[in-house]
Amino acid sequence: MPSHVLVTGADGNIGGALVDRLTASGVMVTALGLTFSAPTAAIRTITADAANEGAVADALEGVDAVVHLAAIAHPGLAPAREVFVRNTSATFTVLDRAGAAGIDRIVVAGSINAFGVPMNHHDVLPAYFPLDEHMPVDHDDAYSLSKWTDEYTARWAASRWGVDVLTLRLPLVKNRETLVQANRELLANEAEIARLGREGWSYLVLDDAIEAIVRGLVAPFTGARVALLAAETTRLPIATETLLDRYAHGVERRKRFPGRSSLVDTTSARELLGWTPRHSLDVDPELVPEVTR
Ligand SMILES: NC(=O)c1ccc[n+]([C@@H]2O[C@H](COP(=O)([O-])OP(=O)(O)OC[C@H]3O[C@@H](n4cnc5c(N)ncnc54)[C@H](O)[C@@H]3O)[C@@H](O)[C@H]2O)c1
Repeated sequence: MPSHVLVTGADGNIGGALVDRLTASGVMVTALGLTFSAPTAAIRTITADAANEGAVADALEGVDAVVHLAAIAHPGLAPAREVFVRNTSATFTVLDRAGAAGIDRIVVAGSINAFGVPMNHHDVLPAYFPLDEHMPVDHDDAYSLSKWTDEYTARWAASRWGVDVLTLRLPLVKNRETLVQANRELLANEAEIARLGREGWSYLVLDDAIEAIVRGLVAPFTGARVALLAAETTRLPIATETLLDRYAHGVERRKRFPGRSSLVDTTSARELLGWTPRHSLDVDPELVPEVTR
């Protein structure tokens, strides 16, 4: 393991849990974020924008690896230009300064939205299932575009600085209780059920995301890599093939999906990181609304 990791976005949901996990494993952490509302276990806390070059350079002192999580994490949280410009400039700044400082490993929080279809306001569907890292893209929101652009910034950093960068395309990531509650709300909203088919009704329990990030810090790969993550089931208590018949009829199915099996191909994560998800949600069939039975 690296001895000292810079975590950006350490004031967020994933960042807070990651700081706890790293420090519990004896790794020193420098935490960078915009708003720390609670004390962290980090040895150093820096309140700054990740696009601030000087602050990032200072934060990198003594550090030997970086996890870059800082981002406006949803297109609805700010105007489009702000989402795109702040996210991509933060990523460029962190990767560029880390490369210049001689850091040789960076893990970046990407998104399952990077191919643009899930949040597209047009009536579009993925080209095929299972979703993989090679999906044809179709962007029309600034968040997805920023995550797509970040993957190219990672390629640039690998080429420019020789740094190894793993981008993890994350689906919805929350702790188990929050996911259960989110599912309860989802099951009452058929339009949202239909839309979420574009991301394969995917999710990931927080602990599994943290495990993949930690493995990304030590896995034996070089260059810029991208890996999708997801739990082994969908979020819904309905057979996957039934969901596809109902909401994605006509989309190519490249394999069979027995039971509630996931529509996300996580082969790259398994091969690169030796990672498989350990947690999945059991969903109470009684919660299934009439309309989706
Ligand atoms: N949680 C999910 O469901 C999910 C899914 C896909 C991708 N992601 C990505 O994972 C990362 C972490 O997500 P999260 O759920 O912890 O989100 P979060 O909103 O809880 O945390 C992100 C943190 O980054 C900080 N931040 C934003 N812009 C910043 C900047 N320019 N400089 C410094 N700090 C900044 C915010 O203050 C926030 O605390 C994000 O990049 C997000 O896009 C999350």
